[in-house]
Amino acid sequence: MFRSILALLLGATSAAVAQTATAQTATARIKIDTDRRIGEVHPHMFGNFAEHLGRCIYGGIYEEGSPLSDADGFRKDVMQAIKGLGVSLLRWPGGNFVSGYDWKDGIGPRNQRPARPEGAWGDIESNRFGTDDFLKYSERLGVEPYICINAGLGTIADARDWVEYTNGNANTYWANQRRKNGREKPYGVKYWGLGNELDGPWQLGHKNADDYTKFALEAGKAMRRVDPSIKLIASGSSNYGADWIAWNRAVLDRLKNEMDYISLHMYIGNRDNNFERFLGATSQDLDHRIEITAGLIRAAQSGQAKPRPIAIAFDEWNVWYRARGGSEHATGATRLEEIYNFEDALAMGMFFNSFFRHADTIKMANLAQIVNVIAPIFTNKEGLFLQPIYFPIAEYARQGGNTALNLHVASPTYKLDRRAPIPYLDASATYDQKSKTVYLNVLNRSETQDISTRIDNSEGQLDGQAAVWEMNHSNLKETHTFGQDSKVRPQTRTLTVPGGAGFSYTFPKHSLTILKLKLK
Ligand code: AHR
Repeated sequence: MFRSILALLLGATSAAVAQTATAQTATARIKIDTDRRIGEVHPHMFGNFAEHLGRCIYGGIYEEGSPLSDADGFRKDVMQAIKGLGVSLLRWPGGNFVSGYDWKDGIGPRNQRPARPEGAWGDIESNRFGTDDFLKYSERLGVEPYICINAGLGTIADARDWVEYTNGNANTYWANQRRKNGREKPYGVKYWGLGNELDGPWQLGHKNADDYTKFALEAGKAMRRVDPSIKLIASGSSNYGADWIAWNRAVLDRLKNEMDYISLHMYIGNRDNNFERFLGATSQDLDHRIEITAGLIRAAQSGQAKPRPIAIAFDEWNVWYRARGGSEHATGATRLEEIYNFEDALAMGMFFNSFFRHADTIKMANLAQIVNVIAPIFTNKEGLFLQPIYFPIAEYARQGGNTALNLHVASPTYKLDRRAPIPYLDASATYDQKSKTVYLNVLNRSETQDISTRIDNSEGQLDGQAAVWEMNHSNLKETHTFGQDSKVRPQTRTLTVPGGAGFSYTFPKHSLTILKLKLK
């Protein structure tokens, strides 16, 4: 009342008064129950991706002759930053690139490797970084390697030979080539993608579902004859036109006895500069695509006495909309070099919250990509800077191995077009049994309202101490650059909560918060 009178006196518009009134009254409730478990947050949810594209490999991961590189040409500063990101698994070599790639060009003495025209991105591939380089790099970083085969212009025999080269133990031609190239012991590459985005007409060797599934089935069979222990990731949807469900259904129906994962890809963008749409509509689409695919997996398995377990590998995801289409960074040396801002950092929370809520089905996810190309790490010849998206990714990665919890969230909502109401609070939670800590991850995607929230815990008592990790900034568009990458960083503090079952906490407008709550 006092505020409305004040507003009248000051001549404020009624819209502004209404907004203030709503800001005062927005309340929510979150209930935590450590007995309501979804599944393990698999460590591979913090995977990443390195493609031969722009400056991701050459000038990012690998820079020969640079004072910042080691004797193998690996940029040491980039390796350090990747370690800080908590990366568990690395997908390589593409992406669209792989559908025109011949892995045999990338082995043996560097100076004898051929340069080839590169058909996906219109570049020249020097082949100075190849299979042994990637696998050495993965070992150095301590990450699980994941190789995607060429199911576009490549052959089934090429895919089989690649497995023999990396994993072969016997006295055979390709295993011996590996030995000749300096590596006696097999690398034991476990994760193999059966091609990239074959559903997309932009893909070299794009296929219809019939042709793709025939190829993938036979390729998987031939690869497993060389190493029966490998895990196979079939190429699911990346092209969300009218047929995307039919594509996934066909892949699952025909490969259900061979595949271990179905891949999904999704990129989002704030194209119309509408913050709440950016974090709301895309999150509904993300949940929808995951849940439909999970249903298709169950449908494919139904009626089988012992169905093969199949999970989702969300093996490309990120914000990507500025450096594409007709933009100057869509082509040329600076291909796909997105400069990320604060609101993009919030989108990282949106993706992970959804992945955690579906932790029973999603067992792998790969941010696209690791350095320079739509990436959290950005280099030049003198050094690097960390983009705002780096920090939430690194923080969420600490929850790998925890158990995802099924929260009850009652939040004020907003409407976009004819979509179902969207809750302002987008939340997930995980539980670490060893340290008896609940991690409550909350994105407040209201641009204007702080949301006061009652948080109740059902099983066990809160022990009175909590830690807060928060990303917030007054400017949604704030970015970083060389020498200035401290502007959009998380703040941490401790919080005393009343020992017992619950407390109230206000999630500030446009913020991402992780509350770490100890249980007694
Ligand atoms: O990550 C950039 C590109 O996006 C990948 O090459 C492709 O798989 C996807 O379309």
